Amino acid sequence: MRYFPPTVPINPGLSFHFILAFAIDYFMASHPTPANGVFTPYWDTSNLSPAAVAATKAAHPNLSIMVGLGGDSVQNTGVKATFAPTSSVDAWVSNAVDSLSGIINTYGLDGVNVDYEHFATDVDTFVECIGRLLTRLKSKFPYITTSIAPFEDSVVQRYYQPLWSRYAGVIDYVNFQFYGYGANTNVDFYVQFYDQQLANYPGSKLLASFKTGNVTGLISPDQGIAGAKELQRQGKLPGLFIWSADSSKVSSYRFRYETAAQNIVANH
Ligand SMILES: *[C@@H]1O[C@H](CO)[C@@H](O)[C@H](O)[C@H]1NC(C)=O
Ligand SMILES: *[C@@H]1O[C@H](CO)[C@@H](O)[C@H](O)[C@H]1NC(C)=O
Repeated sequence: MRYFPPTVPINPGLSFHFILAFAIDYFMASHPTPANGVFTPYWDTSNLSPAAVAATKAAHPNLSIMVGLGGDSVQNTGVKATFAPTSSVDAWVSNAVDSLSGIINTYGLDGVNVDYEHFATDVDTFVECIGRLLTRLKSKFPYITTSIAPFEDSVVQRYYQPLWSRYAGVIDYVNFQFYGYGANTNVDFYVQFYDQQLANYPGSKLLASFKTGNVTGLISPDQGIAGAKELQRQGKLPGLFIWSADSSKVSSYRFRYETAAQNIVANH
């Protein structure tokens, strides 16, 4: 994300999390390869620097800044950011705790969002690596917020549902990517999809979500807002997640959906 708060409007009456996308455990190269849990910041670190994080947090006491792990691909190299430990669970977790602790301390971060979307291991390895990583980070940094970002895909659900069932105790939010659903997602469907995902992630604080930018064939921001209003009317909305600030900054958007979304949550 190139555009940092304070350009994103932040309502001081609620809890706002901004996710830096992404830290990835890949070596930086023209053809990046897996680094076995050693994470490197792949976001725009010249603008989203430790000094910028500190200044922005000082200006907005209710802003938390998190780091997203993984994502679809390693910047614009075309290489998929695959969950691909190259040795044991213990070694991956140890590398991940060390490298992410360094990033959390350097940038003054408040949380971690797990967003791997491609997998080279079996389900158990993913569940144990991520579950133990979050457990250890929560014990080192008791104040951090943790979340996971699955979406409707049979492979992705097969990895994230067992992670939730075994490690729900160290996962604060499920940032479900509802914007993966199609353009025909009216309010009734949105609520139906939300209820389905609540059954898949029982007991979770399940955030509603939508995306800005190119939504050809996908649910639009207006549909996301309408769905969120209905969920709130039904007393089911713990919060909203929007992807992404880069898209919302440009063109006709100018963060108007971020403002609308925060108005919904604030009037709760
Ligand atoms: C401000 O953020 C903190 C941390 O997320 C939260 O606990 C608190 O409720 C928020 N304050 C308001 C007014 O929402
Ligand atoms: C928008 O997304 C659609 C579907 O993925 C794609 O076909 C189209 O080329 C994209 N348009 C732009 C302007 O990126």
